[in-house]
Amino acid sequence: MIISDDNNKNIKNKGASNDAPKCKSQDLEAKEVDFDKTYEKNIRPKTFEEYIGQSALRDTLKITIEASKKRNVPLDHLLFYGPPGLGKTTLAGVIANEIGVNIKITSAPSLERPRDIIGILMSLKGGEILFIDEIHRLNKVAEEILYPAMEDFFIDLTTGKSQSVKTMRVPVPKFTLIGATTKAGALSGPLRDRFGIIHRLEFYTIDELAQVIKRSAKILNIKIDDEGAKEIASRSRATPRIANRLIKRSADYALVKFDGKIITKQIAKEALDSLCIDNLGLVTTDRALLELIINNYDGGPVGVETLSVALGEDVRTIEDVYEPFLLQKGLIARTNRGRRATKLAYKHLGIRYTEQNGQMGLFD
Ligand SMILES: Nc1ncnc2c1ncn2[C@@H]1O[C@H](COP(=O)(O)OP(=O)(O)OP(=O)(O)O)[C@@H](O)[C@H]1O
Ligand SMILES: [Mg+2]
Repeated sequence: MIISDDNNKNIKNKGASNDAPKCKSQDLEAKEVDFDKTYEKNIRPKTFEEYIGQSALRDTLKITIEASKKRNVPLDHLLFYGPPGLGKTTLAGVIANEIGVNIKITSAPSLERPRDIIGILMSLKGGEILFIDEIHRLNKVAEEILYPAMEDFFIDLTTGKSQSVKTMRVPVPKFTLIGATTKAGALSGPLRDRFGIIHRLEFYTIDELAQVIKRSAKILNIKIDDEGAKEIASRSRATPRIANRLIKRSADYALVKFDGKIITKQIAKEALDSLCIDNLGLVTTDRALLELIINNYDGGPVGVETLSVALGEDVRTIEDVYEPFLLQKGLIARTNRGRRATKLAYKHLGIRYTEQNGQMGLFD
């Protein structure tokens, strides 16, 4: 999914962002920063100490880990949910590292056949962590194999065909399952009930993101002042993955356009303006989505399917990637008839709001 100016082509543009400069495309969905695996690997926190924010969750986990060590039993199964890029996978790695056990990482779509999930369960060693990403996409058969494995550490294997079919109960090593999902609501009840701890990851504050940015700047070997870090943090959609991407972009910009020694507020601002990331952290598609609701549907409500067609983005991307932050910022509201732009959205785009139709002409 690439976000580009082309996304605006079928949208009536009355908003003030018309005069926004032409932007390079931004890919909010990409999981790796500039596809640079080394940078990605280096910046990923490995200990609780390095893992910034999510303090309530960290405290809970520290106690749970301590208790399981004292009882000498594996950690309870954990489910982490929340929007992309908030640190679910990273946290699973931190937990494994803090306990000192191996982690096997997989994702639900790659566990299509029964033998995929059986194979991975049988290959685990005692105490190891199994991490299943996008766990809401697990199919029914895989889920049913997982239930007894999670609860009592055995699986039922069937051999033979039709009348001669036999079921064998096979033990699996005691393990901890960590599931991650952007859609907790899509998980089946029985699966959800088998997790001991279910926790939502929160969006990050500007101060927390500034810490993430300073840490990554150090790894990139570039200086950044407090104001520069704050500027990038405030445009990072409350998400560390985006903060890491934007510090990298700002470092590149500083290197090419300036002497590259330090990122100041001014340099960060120029770098991010050139990417059409506005002062709230909205990208072209966010603004296109808001303008669509305001200009074409009188502020809404409008169904997500309609938005999807008009923007050329699939429903899942709109729901998982764009909406959580727009909701968190109070720019849109969800009603049972669809999405509505809030007064704040009008204000942000510079469009005047009236009670009758939600909008009228330009703001000032
Ligand atoms: N608490 C944190 N402190 C510092 N950096 C973090 C933190 N959480 C995440 N990051 C950084 O953000 C990046 C994205 O995190 P991660 O891949 O864990 O997100 P995720 O929630 O698993 O996303 P997705 O839902 O897309 O799989 C990581 O590369 C990591 O470097
Ligand atoms: Mg992940």
